[in-house]
Amino acid sequence: MSTAMMRVAGVETFGEPLRLLEVPIPAPGPGEVLVRVRAAAVNPADAGMVAGRYRWAEPVRFPLVPGYDVAGEDAATGVAVVAFTMHKTTQRGGYAQFVALPADLVVPLPPGADPVAAAALPLAGLTAWQALDTLGDDVRTLSINGRGAVGAFARSLAADRGLTPVDDDGPVDAALDTVGGARAWAAFERVRPGGRYATVVPEFWVPGGPFAPARGIEPLVVSVRYDREQLLGLVDRFARGVLSPAIEAVLPLSEAATAHQRLTGGGRTGKLILRPGR
Ligand SMILES: NC(=O)c1ccc[n+]([C@@H]2O[C@H](COP(=O)([O-])OP(=O)(O)OC[C@H]3O[C@@H](n4cnc5c(N)ncnc54)[C@H](OP(=O)(O)O)[C@@H]3O)[C@@H](O)[C@H]2O)c1
Repeated sequence: MSTAMMRVAGVETFGEPLRLLEVPIPAPGPGEVLVRVRAAAVNPADAGMVAGRYRWAEPVRFPLVPGYDVAGEDAATGVAVVAFTMHKTTQRGGYAQFVALPADLVVPLPPGADPVAAAALPLAGLTAWQALDTLGDDVRTLSINGRGAVGAFARSLAADRGLTPVDDDGPVDAALDTVGGARAWAAFERVRPGGRYATVVPEFWVPGGPFAPARGIEPLVVSVRYDREQLLGLVDRFARGVLSPAIEAVLPLSEAATAHQRLTGGGRTGKLILRPGR
């Protein structure tokens, strides 16, 4: 019997450009769901994965297929879903026609939801949600830097919690940095003495930000973790129009390398989405 194959975008060694590869369609294990991927979002972390910049919990398996965020259907039932692949742990990447994932990581989408927009939700949305939680709910003035996916979601989620981020340059109770480096310092310096500061950009990723306490402010680094209730919360807010991800381009899987080049170029207008095709 011949093995059914699928297209993925991956690398055989760290640092090479992503290219199309053929690998077997994964067989879902007990308690797993096979997702037929209609849209996979491109995140800065994916480029770090390909470059070998992450510390892995276990030896890396090649070909390395990146991708944290997918939307599509449960291949067995046809139900529309969105999923977080927990790539760093599972090494099951979303830049693929199919991905098999533990059922806990897969949540239903409302009927008719656009998979392209839904695919933009998990990684950036969970990060933004957890960053706001880290800052706490006693914050009355908040500033958020960066107009990327995490910054945009954080602004929308904060407003949904009744706290509209400020745009002026005055002192604030709390600041969230989504950029790192000098921009992180600018955010930190706005925080009133004893206030709260969190960044989603760790020192190994962009050095040069504030990572030591000063003026009674403890810099907190947010590292995203999976939380099913929060992903359901993001889907709910997406369905109600609280979250409407900006999409810059939808590209075929064969252009994954181009998508990664675009991540670091200027003129960004939103999320890059890969479509694996049939
Ligand atoms: N710690 C964690 O667990 C975690 C999780 C997710 C992401 N991150 C990190 O957080 C950082 C931000 O991630 P991200 O997903 O927000 O990156 P992103 O969407 O790729 O945005 C990166 C930058 O591109 C520009 N940009 C993107 N979309 C734009 C738009 N619609 N309009 C204008 N400018 C736009 C922005 O530059 P300007 O700021 O100059 O406007 C933005 O700061 C990255 O370093 C990422 O690695 C960390």
